[in-house]
Amino acid sequence: MSALLETHDLTVSYGGLHANSNVNIKVEKGKLTGLIGPNGAGKTTFIDAITGFTNVSSGRAEFRGQDLSGESAAGRARNGLVRTFQSLELFEDLTVWDNLIVMAETTYWWSFLADIIRPNRKVGVEEQAQWALDLLGLGDLKDRLTFDLSHGQRKLVSVARGLAARPELLLLDEPAAGLDTVESQQLGSHLREILNRDITLFLIDHDMGLVLSVCDYIYVLDFGKIIAEGTPDEVRKNPEVIKAYLGETAGEIQAQEGAAVRQQGGN
Ligand SMILES: Nc1ncnc2c1ncn2[C@@H]1O[C@H](COP(=O)(O)OP(=O)(O)O)[C@@H](O)[C@H]1O
Ligand SMILES: [Mg+2]
Repeated sequence: MSALLETHDLTVSYGGLHANSNVNIKVEKGKLTGLIGPNGAGKTTFIDAITGFTNVSSGRAEFRGQDLSGESAAGRARNGLVRTFQSLELFEDLTVWDNLIVMAETTYWWSFLADIIRPNRKVGVEEQAQWALDLLGLGDLKDRLTFDLSHGQRKLVSVARGLAARPELLLLDEPAAGLDTVESQQLGSHLREILNRDITLFLIDHDMGLVLSVCDYIYVLDFGKIIAEGTPDEVRKNPEVIKAYLGETAGEIQAQEGAAVRQQGGN
């Protein structure tokens, strides 16, 4: 069976810079797949390319086995491929509820048609928004202006907004950025709950603790190239990863696990 999302030598060039270079990633349905890498590694570019926000220079991406080339960003979203943004793109002067409704409406007519194919997913715009709100535990904040919320709350609203579009695959660009440890753990458990609701997730984050603890499978990007992939355990122990990305925190993470700290020398 083919993966829900699969890229084949996906390359994105900005002038002479290969922001993504022959990237091959598979996102299996029902799994939480992660992408980590240092700042500037090309993580956001990857999501941009998949969701139609930037041009692919060569290679391709397939969603449900179909080539995405030539499909607009809006068309991809209607087809169930939805993203969140690294910088919060909430409507500041709308309530949490209205932010969700706007998103739910943009994909509603598509989902109305899809309901003929997948009748078990039949819901209206309001149910869609309410469902997303409940899943992230945001019911109490429904009528608040997003402007008035804390950073952590806004990050959750941003995830809920993506969910309100009722995606099949939701790509999250650093949803834990700026969250404290407790908020980040809460987000992690919300993400696992979302997976149980028939939505596949792709997570980009800097928060190593979060990525290692919630993902089923992880890819590591460095200078636009995939340098490692595997389960959290495999990635955590990979010397390439430790050298390229984990750096000083690697010792910390391994110590936490009770593992011997590998001496890399000249780190
Ligand atoms: N629209 C763009 N035009 C030119 N260069 C870009 C553009 N977007 C990203 N880049 C460059 O591509 C590289 C990867 O960026 P990005 O995908 O944002 O990395 P990350 O999300 O991993 O921090 C960086 O060197 C960045 O400056
Ligand atoms: Mg980024």
